[in-house]
Amino acid sequence: MKQLQGHVAGLQGTLAVPGDKSISHRGLMIGAISAGITRLHNFLPSADCLATLAAVQALGVAVDRPTPTEVTITGVGKAGLHQAVGSLDMMNSGTSTRLFMGLLAGQTFDSTLTGDASLSKRPMRRVADPLLAFGADVNVTSAGTLPATIHGQPLHAANVQMNVASAQVKSALILAALQAPGVSTIVETLPTRDHTERMLRAFGANVQTTADQRTITVVGQPELVGQTLTVPGDMSSAAFFMTAASLTKNAQVHLKNVGINETRTGLLKVLQEMGGRVMVDKHMAGGEPVADLTIETADLHSITLGEKDIPALIDELPLVALLAARAQGVTTITGAAELRVKETDRIATIATELTKMGAEVRELPDGLVITGHADWHPQSLTLDSHGDHRIGMMLAVAALQQPETFTLDNADAVAVSYPNFFEDLAQLITPEAV
Ligand code: S3P
Repeated sequence: MKQLQGHVAGLQGTLAVPGDKSISHRGLMIGAISAGITRLHNFLPSADCLATLAAVQALGVAVDRPTPTEVTITGVGKAGLHQAVGSLDMMNSGTSTRLFMGLLAGQTFDSTLTGDASLSKRPMRRVADPLLAFGADVNVTSAGTLPATIHGQPLHAANVQMNVASAQVKSALILAALQAPGVSTIVETLPTRDHTERMLRAFGANVQTTADQRTITVVGQPELVGQTLTVPGDMSSAAFFMTAASLTKNAQVHLKNVGINETRTGLLKVLQEMGGRVMVDKHMAGGEPVADLTIETADLHSITLGEKDIPALIDELPLVALLAARAQGVTTITGAAELRVKETDRIATIATELTKMGAEVRELPDGLVITGHADWHPQSLTLDSHGDHRIGMMLAVAALQQPETFTLDNADAVAVSYPNFFEDLAQLITPEAV
């Protein structure tokens, strides 16, 4: 249980948020199957990425970590992975699980993937089923969940139409296509984050994307060559401070080197549309666009979001709900049923916890309706992350502006993506004079 800091007088300062979670996972996996050395600077040392790191090591790849954020992978090439002794523990990480399903489907050995209680409830047929088109043999439980047994075998090229907007599923299919001789195409329902495609190109693969960002063509069996990459700061981590600064009086927060890949900047755009004060100073780093951001206190108004808006801010929707709960007017979010199958059912956990704090939030089957109020009247002072890192951090940001003192159960969950979150937040806070 953690006491959340509230009643703050301001938020001021400069932070470099930790490295991007999605890119850190992909750097480990793609580095592992490349020839030669891959160096990752600013790797994210969070529980999720360490699950991928341990699995890569269990598959016979040497990984050195001279500091928590510097990783050196001695790649084994496309046929060099070895069968792990026992099963691979994916812990809480959906990204590790789904990407490994695609990567391990084309190997010469069998693998078993397991996960924690939350991950073991999440849907895995969304990956196992489309992998069938490549000739893969991936078995999950009758409920469609982990453990997954992957019978590695030679794959063939395929053309797949996806039926869920998911970068994890897309990436699994790309990793399968990479191992099949010939040319495969994967068609998305809506464009999702494209870090896998960008990184594979940087490592020497022929992966093309159409102008509408929806069709990906993969030429199989490339020779990938290890690279040195600097992982940009994670937009999904920066988003907590962008929200905190927008909602807190006397705020001016500078965030350095944040990844602003177009497929990830939904919150930035939403905040600007809601009346937020965000300054963006852009540059390029390691094949990904990066920016220094400055965010200041703002008066916000409501917004309407639908299905096509969701992929670019899928992980930031708890924060959109919080912004809306303090903005003028009624915000409606629809087309976001994917939130029900994240680390928790986030539609339910957002509504439950913000309602406890006194916000007006109503659940829809595929979204939320939020009526903004400047003042909240709490029903309970005990909040719960429900074991979901992003819910825990959103609640800590929500508490900052409140005169009451809230406590947070299951606060440790933040380590899944941001182990030093509470310390970094504390650095920015100007306490109210007593
Ligand atoms: C991720 C994709 C998203 C996101 C997750 C990371 C990735 O999941 O929610 O935190 O790294 O590909 P879906 O693609 O399943 O929506």
